[in-house]
Amino acid sequence: MALRHDPLKRGYDVDENAIRFSNYFHVLRELVHLSCGWLPLVPAFEDKLRLGEHIHDDARAVSRIKRRLYELRHPSDYPGAPGAELAALLDRLASAESPQEYLALTYGTAKPLLLAAVEVDLAELDPITDEPSLLLLEKLRARQQRHISELGAGGGEDAGIEDLGALAIQLKAPPRELRVLPPLVEPARDDFIDVTPEGDPFLSEELYVNDPDENHVPIEPEEQRHFFHALMDAELCAAELMARNSHEHPEMPWDFHVDMSRQVWDEVRHAHVHEILMPTELGCRWGDYPVGFSYFRSIYAHDLLGRLALFNSTSEQKAMWRHSHRRRVLVDRGQEQVAKVFDYLLADEVPHVHNGVRWGSHLLGGDEAAYRRKVSELRDGLDRTGAPTETPSAA
Ligand SMILES: [Fe+2]
Ligand SMILES: [Fe+2]
Repeated sequence: MALRHDPLKRGYDVDENAIRFSNYFHVLRELVHLSCGWLPLVPAFEDKLRLGEHIHDDARAVSRIKRRLYELRHPSDYPGAPGAELAALLDRLASAESPQEYLALTYGTAKPLLLAAVEVDLAELDPITDEPSLLLLEKLRARQQRHISELGAGGGEDAGIEDLGALAIQLKAPPRELRVLPPLVEPARDDFIDVTPEGDPFLSEELYVNDPDENHVPIEPEEQRHFFHALMDAELCAAELMARNSHEHPEMPWDFHVDMSRQVWDEVRHAHVHEILMPTELGCRWGDYPVGFSYFRSIYAHDLLGRLALFNSTSEQKAMWRHSHRRRVLVDRGQEQVAKVFDYLLADEVPHVHNGVRWGSHLLGGDEAAYRRKVSELRDGLDRTGAPTETPSAA
């Protein structure tokens, strides 16, 4: 096809462009941060699943926008800090007092304003000189449209902002401080879920031990129903822990938040897989049995290093072995569809375990050997199923 030679559009100059991307950066970074904080408190499974997916989309968008700013204006002070008008919108988001209020503001105000600004951008930019922005913004537009259609239910507020991309940026101001929500008491579940202190009494220790002679793979229909129901809840707890790791540690490098958000998405997707398997393969559904949060609490009570060591580098590392063991037994029994699920869970577990080593070592000044020592020290306090023998006193 012959090249066209239409005149170039004027488009934005590079500074205007960098200002627009800086505004998008500030909105999306705040949304990733706050959505990670609220995710555990969103009760409905479907909303939690969507929110987990959107967190991951938005975290990747922040990385791409950071990259585009680097290309456009490096070295420079971009993205600076949000100007007064954008800061007022972000403060309003950060002041939400319930997950419902937060979701209404995010999906009814912030994301629609972001989407509208991206539309302005796409209509205005020059598609040849600024093709990298075009490609980035087309993807951002499609994702924000999907997000709003999936979780937008009205209830937004008029923020009085015409074009969010054109708002002034404060290039010399200190970085914006992110508000951290109060510590969690426990995650929220759909109101039809029975949350009890001991969880589902049907589950036996033998389902979770790591010794090949002792580990019991659930093969009877009744025990498979209880097992997958508990596994769905465990996946949600995993997503909630990773979301809180990100939210409670805004001081960590950006790549940490990208890794945590990827894991949030993986874990809510795993929960979705089990939610589908239960009615289609096993004859039960989400909500049929009680769930309990004692294991969640035992991990959440630790600081970030302890959570990474006990969850990513211990629980998930051992789950890899159990998943491959379960897969073999289920293939032998002809439950191919269920076995295939364990194959994918196992594959996803590898980067989750790596998140523990990567960021645990980072917290210890890059000393991986020191991190391994910390992991084995904390493992000494666990029973044969990996549950702590005593709850840590450190908050
Ligand atoms: Fe998982
Ligand atoms: Fe995992």
